Amino acid sequence: MNIAELQKEILKLKKEQDVCVLAHSYQTREITEIADFTGDSFALSVEASKVKNKTVIMCGVRFMAETVKLLSPEKTVYLANPVAGCPMAEQMDKDMIAEFKAQNPGVCVVAYINTTTDLKTVCDVCVTSSSAVKIVKELESDDILFIPDINLGTFVAKNVPEKNIRLMHGGCPVHAAVLPKTVEEAKALHPNALLLVHPECVPAVTEQADYVGSTAGIIKFAKNCEGSEFIIGTEIAIASHLAYECPGKKFYPLSKELICPNMKATTLVDVYNTLKGNGGEEIILDDETIKKARVCIDRMIELG
Ligand code: 13P
Ligand code: SF4
Repeated sequence: MNIAELQKEILKLKKEQDVCVLAHSYQTREITEIADFTGDSFALSVEASKVKNKTVIMCGVRFMAETVKLLSPEKTVYLANPVAGCPMAEQMDKDMIAEFKAQNPGVCVVAYINTTTDLKTVCDVCVTSSSAVKIVKELESDDILFIPDINLGTFVAKNVPEKNIRLMHGGCPVHAAVLPKTVEEAKALHPNALLLVHPECVPAVTEQADYVGSTAGIIKFAKNCEGSEFIIGTEIAIASHLAYECPGKKFYPLSKELICPNMKATTLVDVYNTLKGNGGEEIILDDETIKKARVCIDRMIELG
């Protein structure tokens, strides 16, 4: 089967089996074309809480499929490619955070959604890159522990100076690898372009940006902005989706190395095999874990 035939077959199977396919914006175009919904982590969570279909296939990374299961435990949820994990999600140890809470009563633990379900069970509220500043501002507590991304945490601390925000050393290996020198080179090559970057990049990079925001924020900014040239400082999929959707504008990836191998692990064949019952991984979480971990996801949706 070629790509178009495979897509046609997937659309047919989805309909027959009452399946909803959710895709993160870092997925390839051939996947977003067969998805019922494509968005950033926050939009995917909100969508997951509204899905009517009895089965959901997530084309993204593991914590995203687990978020769908937390919000819709009665549904059958699959991660299309079981090897797609987010390395940042595994960086903090649940016992260490529980111990920190015990020693610092009153501190509010804010977890980036890129965390394991197990870790979420000891956190107070989740945030995504698009909702972090808003949610932290609205929290009653002024004493915050933000985990695991030190770069997103630094960005939040800068935008919410009235709160005491403590950070730990975690982060995205893909975004954090972008060097300020790369920004200087890109700006020299494209002097008229605006620089749009994800807050998972280091402060020396975000400080040089014209706009800092989530993947959905970057897409919206580029579409609505009158400028016609943009350097895109996040996973290269976003520059290529924008080039397709805004043919009159020019988009340059900040670095060709901004590729998340985990996000790129999922293929159309994975989606097809999952629908055929011989691929993907069903997400199984026990009731107690769902009950505990869901608290901070519900709070995120309520405040975000
Ligand atoms: P968004 O919250 O922008 O979707 O980002 C998710 C992610 O994994 C970024 O690397
Ligand atoms: Fe995780 Fe970074 Fe990949 Fe996003 S880009 S899924 S944070 S490794």
